[in-house]
Parts: sequence; structure tokens; C-alpha cells
Amino acid sequence: MFKTILVPTDKSQHAQKALEFACDLAKLYGSKLVMIHVLEQVRDTKALKRLGKGKPADESDMPDLMAGMASVGMNAESIQQMVDNVEKTIFVPARQMAADKGVGEIETLIKGGDAAKRILKCAKKVDADLIVIGSRGLGNIKGAFLGSVSDKVSRKAKGSCVTIRS
Ligand SMILES: Nc1ncnc2c1ncn2[C@@H]1O[C@H](COP(=O)(O)OP(=O)(O)OP(=O)(O)O)[C@@H](O)[C@H]1O
Ligand SMILES: [Mg+2]
Repeated sequence: MFKTILVPTDKSQHAQKALEFACDLAKLYGSKLVMIHVLEQVRDTKALKRLGKGKPADESDMPDLMAGMASVGMNAESIQQMVDNVEKTIFVPARQMAADKGVGEIETLIKGGDAAKRILKCAKKVDADLIVIGSRGLGNIKGAFLGSVSDKVSRKAKGSCVTIRS
């Protein structure tokens, strides 16, 4: 029923539950599972893509990677650490969970920039027919049912979108 399921994660409990559900669905329907994390402080460039593939950054990448004010206090090494941290704390355990649940095909993506825009762009690119996203994330504004990312993604997604509460 679903060929490709996209699950965006920000390390929140809601996203963790979304990931578990997405793994179960991917197993059930034999879907490919694509996980994405967006580094909002970094520009989405070829340099970031290289870092995501384990190729080290150098200072010549910095003008390419940095977006305006976000550049304060950042260098190639700190961006490399952010990427490594996503790999270690999000993708390694997530891949393990997906494999344990019997998901066949898994892809992980690190992007930079506005989270909702990147998630929507990626959904198009991988041709996701379902997005499974946490209803809220790491933000602490009380009261809202949806955060700004899940609100925008669920309103603008071309395919189906499920929001998951922790
Ligand atoms: N940077 C990100 N990369 C990937 N997925 C994200 C990112 N930020 C949020 N998400 C996804 O969106 C879901 C909802 O998070 P969202 O950011 O909308 O809520 P919030 O943090 O509570 O609110 P806000 O960020 O608007 O203050 C998360 O559970 C996660 O699935
Ligand atoms: Mg958030």
C-alpha cells in the first residue's frame, strides 16, 4: 500500500514514537523507509552532503555551509560534530530498530535549512506516499497540538501524512 515512508526525526519522544510506528508500517507493507534529520543552523549544500557521507569538512567549506547569523561561533569542526552526532544518536539506533523490526530497505538523510521545507522537498524527491511525523518536537511552547514543522508538513504534503503523539 505504501511504497516509500518518510519519517522526519528531531530526537524528541514524539518523533521516536513516529519512528517506531513507521518501522512497523514499513514492515507490514514492505515499504522503503527513509529517515531525515534537518540541521536548521546549516545551509543545505554539497559540502553538507559530503559530510553526511563521512567525508571530513575543512574550513574552505565554511562559506558554503553557513547561513548568515548562524555562523557565529561555528567552524568546520563543530559542523562535523553536529553531523557525527546525528549519525550516532539518531541514525545508528534508528537503523538498528528498523532492522530488528524486519524493515528491508532503509535510507538516512541529513539536510540543512528550514526543517519543514526540507522535509517537503525530500518527500517529493524520494516520492514518499506517506510521511509519519511527531505531532510536537523539542520546542516547549505549551498548548498547541502541532508544532510549526508538523503543522506545515501535514498541510502542504502532496501525499498522506500521519501525526503521532507520544
Ligand atoms: N529538524 C528536524 N528534522 C527532522 N524532523 C523534525 C525536525 N524538527 C521537527 N521535526 C519533526 O516534526 C515533528 C514536530 O516537531 P515541531 O518542530 O513541529 O514541534 P515543536 O518542536 O514542539 O514546535 P516548534 O519547533 O514549532 O517550536 C517532530 O516530532 C519531528 O518528527
Ligand atoms: Mg521543533
